Amino acid sequence: MPSRSAKPAPTKRPAGKKVSAAAKKKALTKRSAAKLRAATPQMDGKPKLYASLVVQLLSLLKDEHDFVANAANMSALLFNSLPNVNWAGFYFLQGDELVLGPFQGNPACVRIPMGKGVCGVAAQQCETIIVPNVHEFPGHIACDVASNSEIVVPLFDGERLLGVLDLDSPTIGRFDDQDAEGLNELVTVFVAHEEGLGV
Ligand code: SME
Repeated sequence: MPSRSAKPAPTKRPAGKKVSAAAKKKALTKRSAAKLRAATPQMDGKPKLYASLVVQLLSLLKDEHDFVANAANMSALLFNSLPNVNWAGFYFLQGDELVLGPFQGNPACVRIPMGKGVCGVAAQQCETIIVPNVHEFPGHIACDVASNSEIVVPLFDGERLLGVLDLDSPTIGRFDDQDAEGLNELVTVFVAHEEGLGV
């Protein structure tokens, strides 16, 4: 009778091919390229990404009537789904200044007067502003030293300005017209939901 050993049989290393240094380098380069692709959505990838964010936002907003909770969830959705973003959140208009609302990212300046910084200019001009390099924008308010580019999208209830949605990125030139279009659609969905609730 064969003796039974309590010891498990030693695991054999699979007889694999030796990986050459060149092959390792190629794999690493492939991985870096994949990482870069994930970090920088390709032009034709952005509309798809924003379309999926609209679906996710609608599902987050569904049946929820709390304005702060909805704005908080929207900022978390954007911060976690959009690549290369280090700040995403809202400033809401109170009197003649913008006041910090729900956001994700580093603590930020709380009050921005109309016409000041990228947010204040976007609010005053009632226009989406894309800033490829914040260091070249006169009067840019630096909340996070890591930020290098920014997009600010105003929110309207009909004609009335409610505030702005602000996104920052550490990458120069991170935002383009496709981001502007996608983010405008998202804020329209957000405001329409709040309006539908009579907020
Ligand atoms: N950079 C903005 C200030 C807000 S932070 O980026 C969160 C601005 O210039 O208005």
